[in-house]
Amino acid sequence: MIVEGVTRVPGDKSITHRALLFGALARGRSHVGGALTSLDARSSARVLRQLGVDVSPLQSERLVTLASRGRLARPDGVLNCGNSGTTTRLLLGMLAGHAFAARLTGDASLRRRPMRRVTVPLEHMGARISDMDGDCLPLTIRGGRLRGLEYPMPVSSAQIKSCLLLAGVTGRVPVALREPTGRSRDHTERLLRAFGHAVTETDDGWIRFEPTGRIEAFDMQVPGDPSSAAFLVGAAVLAEGGSLRISRVGVNPTRIGFLAVLRRMGAAPRLEDEELTFGEPVADLVCEPAELRATEVRAEEIPGLIDEIPLLAVVASRARGTSVFRDVGELRVKESDRLGLMAGNLRACGVAAEVCGEDLHVEGSERVPAGRVRTAGDHRLAMAFAVLGTLPGAKVRIDDLQCADVSFPRFPETLRAIRRRAR
Ligand code: S3P
Repeated sequence: MIVEGVTRVPGDKSITHRALLFGALARGRSHVGGALTSLDARSSARVLRQLGVDVSPLQSERLVTLASRGRLARPDGVLNCGNSGTTTRLLLGMLAGHAFAARLTGDASLRRRPMRRVTVPLEHMGARISDMDGDCLPLTIRGGRLRGLEYPMPVSSAQIKSCLLLAGVTGRVPVALREPTGRSRDHTERLLRAFGHAVTETDDGWIRFEPTGRIEAFDMQVPGDPSSAAFLVGAAVLAEGGSLRISRVGVNPTRIGFLAVLRRMGAAPRLEDEELTFGEPVADLVCEPAELRATEVRAEEIPGLIDEIPLLAVVASRARGTSVFRDVGELRVKESDRLGLMAGNLRACGVAAEVCGEDLHVEGSERVPAGRVRTAGDHRLAMAFAVLGTLPGAKVRIDDLQCADVSFPRFPETLRAIRRRAR
């Protein structure tokens, strides 16, 4: 298989959620170009409408307009966040500074995901959380007057960090946070700085937020999602020839850890025509096939490539030697038990893969992959195994490729369009 051409990926999921949420906190009319229109982004738009924000329909290639009074209004019913952990956790932070009760729920996958990681520190700040199903949704939050927070986070997570920063914004209180291992994506910090809030980082890893700014209505362009681009980069690296260019992808350093890993494995992805838009670096990503060798992905690298582990594990299954992903237990609480399913599905396709404690081991092989893949509705598992299925002769059957729509509408078509048979 040869890869060729120039392609694009849909708007960044993390930045789209944040653009919608910040648009809801800005007084006036904001415009968001290049927004992701997938199911997850629609979940954010839907719950914001229930909270009194006028959000135009999310349609691809169309500007999204948000009109807001700068505060959320008491919701007209239960807020269903669908499959989206980012919507849920960031929204909980925003609601903490609003003096009304709101009830949140989600689909079966989201209702299994841990929420105490955000509700416990929000309660320290003064929010009241009730009717919680153990550690999980559904739950009711009653916000109001908040206290500042100084909090060493138990897990490195951009969702926890952003939740608490947004509580600082709506509650107008200072927040200081420290992540235990590595650095998670920093889109929220960048946006807050763009709106004039003081967000500083100290050498000992503390992020300090002071509510000094005001969220004004804005016009913003969302870059392509590097986490979506990663699947196409993976297909290019595993191809037999050609070259692929993915234009205008977000290349925030806290998001492109997967490129450093691919370089260590012998690939040579490069960034071209880099520029800064709304505080975020954007570039074309160019990539060619490569001979691959195994690598070890260290614990401190994990937060910077958390969503790319399924793809990297698939790539590792074609590298010489055994690759190890250290300390990836966090994958158990993603949209599925991504760790167990990743290892199980690789084995189902004939790859030796094992979970040892909190680590994932993947042995590279040249055998043609064949087998049935169970995604449990997890978009990133479906896309990673679709990439494995691009290998010559591969017979990889995925139970649900449609679930890729959660983050990457038209993924199968895009993957088909970049490939042509080797002559
Ligand atoms: C996200 C943070 C990550 C990531 C998710 C999006 C965000 O989750 O896995 O897809 O937009 O903040 P965690 O912060 O829970 O690791």
